[in-house]
Order: sequence, then structure tokens, then C-alpha cells
Amino acid sequence: MNKLFNLDGRLSVCASFVRKGAALADIGTDHAYLPVWLAKNNIIKSAVAADIRPMPLEHGTENIRKYGCENIVSTRLSDGLDEFSEGEADDIVMAGMGAELIVNIIDRTTWLKNPDLHLILQPMTRAHVLRKYLCENGFEIIEEKACAHGGKNYTVMLAEYSGKKGFFPAYFNYVGKLPENDPLSREYMAQVLKKLRYKSNGMKHDGKDPSQLDEIIEEIIRRFGDEDNDNS
Ligand SMILES: C[S@@+](CC[C@H](N)C(=O)[O-])C[C@H]1O[C@@H](n2cnc3c(N)ncnc32)[C@H](O)[C@@H]1O
Repeated sequence: MNKLFNLDGRLSVCASFVRKGAALADIGTDHAYLPVWLAKNNIIKSAVAADIRPMPLEHGTENIRKYGCENIVSTRLSDGLDEFSEGEADDIVMAGMGAELIVNIIDRTTWLKNPDLHLILQPMTRAHVLRKYLCENGFEIIEEKACAHGGKNYTVMLAEYSGKKGFFPAYFNYVGKLPENDPLSREYMAQVLKKLRYKSNGMKHDGKDPSQLDEIIEEIIRRFGDEDNDNS
């Protein structure tokens, strides 16, 4: 029997958010590492490993066979959740994709507006766009955790539909529910700060008023510190 692989930092956090006994949909699965790992660790009841392209699905199928979990994990060619129907999955993972794509998939899958479902979302870029969409569309971020992968930091969000569209201060889109006392959150926020400072300087250079952005920067520093300018 093949020795099971370890998940990388991003997928480990995604796995930690999956509920025991869940029916999983892994959208954009590529090699199907996440569903195979969850199946082999007896965490999930079933999984559909889905991808928009046939080639990644072939890799996924190879791994499902290699690790002997054909009885738990199946594959499906699907653009987002277009080839899924309501009730097929409890926990839905979208990892390793850009925030805009994740937003697009959620937005057109109307049956995701169900409080029983868990969305586990790991955007590679522009996480603030995803948080904003979730908050403005009645999805609540229940928990969030930063992770490290390939010398960079990312965030994983656990969200569910509540229907409540609350008021969120502007900094929330950048900070979300990341715990302030976690060193990985601080590393992640240092990356965010760098980008925001770059943007603020660009606005100043263009003669635009960056004060709103600067307020967000100050709030992030207050909560997570400023690793770039910290000697402590
Ligand atoms: C970088 S891989 C991420 C693989 C894995 N989820 C991970 O996080 O390691 C992104 C995958 O998403 C797939 N993908 C891109 N757009 C998609 C869509 N609209 N629906 C389903 N899969 C998509 C790509 O084909 C690719 O295999």
C-alpha cells in the first residue's frame, strides 16, 4: 500500500475545517490531494473531486486509484458547481483559485444560500474581494486561519450563509476573522500591509487622497503590529 502524502500548509488548514462525516465537494481539485487525504484519514463520508479541465481530473483519478479510495472519492468535470445539484455536498472547498473566480462560482450557485452548508475558501489573490462579497451577500465568515506555502502566506476562510448583511468597517475586508495572536496571521498581514502601502503611495503620487486606505493601514498595525518597522 502506498504511504500517504502530507498536505501542504494551505490544504492542511482547509482539511482542518472539514466536518467529520461530511460529503465533500472539492472544486478545482487538480490532483485530488485534499479529498484523498481526507478519505484516507476517515474524516469524510464521500467526496466529489471536480475540475473544469480533463487533465487535472486524470491526475486526480490516478491518485484516487493509487491510494485505493474509489469507494469514497469520485471525479467530475464541472465548471464551478454547475454540474452539482443541491444536497450533494455538505462541505464545499474552493482552494488555490483567485478570489474573483471563487466569488463568481458562489454567486451563480444559488443553492449555496443554505446555512447547513460550509464553504471552505482559500483564495490565492485578493482575499479582500472575497470577504467583501461574502459580507455583502449574507455569508458569515465563521473562522479564518492563515497558513504558509512556498514562501508566501495565505488565508483560509470558513463561511456559511446566515442571510444577515451586517455593517462591517472598511478594514474588515483586509483582516477578516484572522486571530491577532497567531504568528502566521501577523506574517500574512505583513504581506497585506506591503501591498496597501504600495497602493497608498501610488495614490499620493497620482494626486489622489489615500486617507481611507491609510486608516485601514493604521488599524491593521494596531491589531497585528508592523513587522517591517518592528525592531521588537
Ligand atoms: C492551482 S489549482 C488548485 C488545486 C488544489 N485545489 C489546491 O489548492 O492545491 C487550480 C485548479 O482549479 C481549476 N479550475 C479553474 N477554474 C475552475 C472552475 N471554474 N471550475 C472548476 N475548476 C476550476 C484548474 O483547472 C486547476 O486544476
